[in-house]
Amino acid sequence: MRTQVGIVGAGPAGLMLSHLLHLEGIETVVLEARSRKHIEERIRAGLLEQGTVDLMVETGVGERMKRQGLVHHGIELRFGGRGHRIDLSGLTGGKTVTIYAQHEVIKDLIGARRAAGCQIVFEAEDVSVHNFDGSAPGIRFRESGKVTELACDFIAGCDGFHGVCRPTIPTGALTTYDRIYPFAWLGILAEARPSSDELIYAYHEHGFALHSMRSAEITRLYLQCAPDEDLNKWPDGKIWDELQLRLAAGQGWKLNQGAILQKGITEMRSFVVEPMQFGSLFLAGDAAHIVPPTGAKGLNLAVADVRVLARALADYYATGSRELLARYSETCLRRVWKVQRFSWWMTSMLHRFADENAFDQRRQLAELDYVTSSRAAAQSLAENYVGLPME
Ligand code: FAD
Ligand code: DHB
Repeated sequence: MRTQVGIVGAGPAGLMLSHLLHLEGIETVVLEARSRKHIEERIRAGLLEQGTVDLMVETGVGERMKRQGLVHHGIELRFGGRGHRIDLSGLTGGKTVTIYAQHEVIKDLIGARRAAGCQIVFEAEDVSVHNFDGSAPGIRFRESGKVTELACDFIAGCDGFHGVCRPTIPTGALTTYDRIYPFAWLGILAEARPSSDELIYAYHEHGFALHSMRSAEITRLYLQCAPDEDLNKWPDGKIWDELQLRLAAGQGWKLNQGAILQKGITEMRSFVVEPMQFGSLFLAGDAAHIVPPTGAKGLNLAVADVRVLARALADYYATGSRELLARYSETCLRRVWKVQRFSWWMTSMLHRFADENAFDQRRQLAELDYVTSSRAAAQSLAENYVGLPME
């Protein structure tokens, strides 16, 4: 079996890369460890930056998102008993963000890839990558018990944080930078009408809370909790009480409640590996970096990486030049580090830390006050939130 670019992982990074390369006339095969059903139902992120939305529309996979996505022009920061709106559009020359669930993006991309005849192997077992420092890169995998060797020109490691590609790169070739936060998020999806038209990020004495949504009938909510939180200690009633308390911020505001459809814990870490390439193996998305979820950057960052990679591969196949490929990691990392900074900053401003003292709390409140009262500070938040330029 042979292809031009072998892609490991059918998350947003792998599928978008396959789609972008197809538009450049480049053939790919995508290998995914899980079933199609599993990845089309997996509840994850839900907020798309302006650049991600534009890319989906421009490349013909944005039809359903344009119909079903919820366009947001602002967000609210709640603290000290009051809400403060950040006018994202007014501060960024009309840019917006769109609420559209990650698994819906996945469905749209799989639909488009399949319609174009792309081979996506679901439930690929024992995937391993070889010879990427030499001239004959290849991927070995098992499908329904049968071992297949896929020969390719390049390998794209889009297999997420726990994938096989990054660990296969020789030790010593990569430097990792990371930070683990002393808290996690307990997230729920509920059959309840959103209680506000916009997202609410709340800073409360008990910890952070976030009100988001998926549609006019479905709310998505998150609570700061302990990193090793036991979900069994959170019966539905306790989750609703805590969300109501933190989000109301002492006002008469009422949170709409409903049946909880899904519950989960998301760990919080910042992680970057440098460089994001080795020989003909290129890492993209969560395989190369993780951000804490505050600000919803993970999916968007994965899309930004593969846009750079697709352009570099297209240039190579058109001209034979490896110049853009050689600069792939350097190009991505400039944006990656700015997004890391923003996600760390939003996280640090809005969460309670176990080791904090009264000074830290006052400083956080001053930061929130500054961001919501200075146009310059609000504009900086807005510019990052709607998404920095792709390249
Ligand atoms: P992934 O989406 O992880 O895709 C990698 C794919 O590779 C997966 O389908 C995986 O099954 C496959 N794979 C792994 N190993 C192998 C292998 N050995 N062989 C073949 N295939 C393999 N971000 C936010 O901004 N906001 C959020 O609220 C948010 N919530 C999240 C909740 C959870 C539980 C998780 C895990 C992530 C969340 N994220 C969130 C992060 C966001 O979803 C990711 O940043 C995004 O999915 C990155 O896309 P990716 O394609 O790089 O990786
Ligand atoms: C969502 C997740 C986030 O991390 C965020 O900052 C905003 C929205 C969401 O899942 O809707």
